[in-house]
Amino acid sequence: MSAYTNLKADMPLRSVQLISLHRPNALNALNRHLMAELDDVLQKAQSDSQIKCVVLTGSEKAFAAGADIKEMKDISFVDAYKQDFLSSWNKIREFRKPLIGAVSGYALGGGFEVAMATDILLASNSAKFGQPEINLGIIPGGGGTQRLIRAVGKAKAMEMILTGRMIKAQEACERGLVSQVLDAEQLMPEALKVAEEIANKSAISVQAAKEAVNAAHEMPLSEGLRFERRLFHQLFATKDQKEGMSAFIEKRKPSFTDE
Ligand code: CAA
Repeated sequence: MSAYTNLKADMPLRSVQLISLHRPNALNALNRHLMAELDDVLQKAQSDSQIKCVVLTGSEKAFAAGADIKEMKDISFVDAYKQDFLSSWNKIREFRKPLIGAVSGYALGGGFEVAMATDILLASNSAKFGQPEINLGIIPGGGGTQRLIRAVGKAKAMEMILTGRMIKAQEACERGLVSQVLDAEQLMPEALKVAEEIANKSAISVQAAKEAVNAAHEMPLSEGLRFERRLFHQLFATKDQKEGMSAFIEKRKPSFTDE
């Protein structure tokens, strides 16, 4: 079924792919091999029209405990700089279909950064989020200093990044990092339910909505509003817009074709 060694890729529902990070002996630490596999599976999901939504999860103990410290320990500045180490992690952000993160246990360092790069994050009661890089003599390198401040504001981001302290699922939810906190056994069913609900919409309006929401992080308000409006206008060129509005008026369920 799955040709990967550091993750599992399954289709639990017709239009939903489930990616489970799988390095059980290293708390899913994100080494190069795992990140290359993640990149590969996301690229394939991008071009597979059957897949309309992806759920990314880890194990009960860890979503991911960060970049692989053993692999990184002896890297030199020159190597890191020449290879632009971790730049490939930005590829997750380039994935255009909806990506739902489902976190149990530790989401630390790079693991937290990958979780923050998903579109919707669900957490079980056991989830713990943190940027402990400061304890290793480094700083977050996969987007943590930039994404965390946008999510929780400067004071909390600074506290977490400068002390390395973790926050629990409930606090992450109160601060807007996580959309729902669930009992452990409810996490995956709910993540798949959300994914299925999204998969049943028009893929084209879902993609446009994701693009517009993400633009809010990158653009000043006036540009963001204009960008949103242009995408909104463009959707009137789709069959799904005609179908969605006709179905409403005819009091029936829409049948979207992603065109
Ligand atoms: N890299 C490599 N191996 C890791 C790892 C990591 N980030 N996190 C855990 N492991 C390994 C441990 O070395 C251990 O392996 P061995 O059995 O071979 O010794 C195994 O996973 C189990 O870990 P622990 O025995 O430490 O488990 P624990 O339950 O006692 O502690 C923990 C759990 C608090 C998460 C602890 O493992 C920990 O602090 N991990 C490191 C967290 C961290 O610092 N993450 C940031 C990494 S740097 C980074 O991510 C940079 C970036 O911005 C991209």
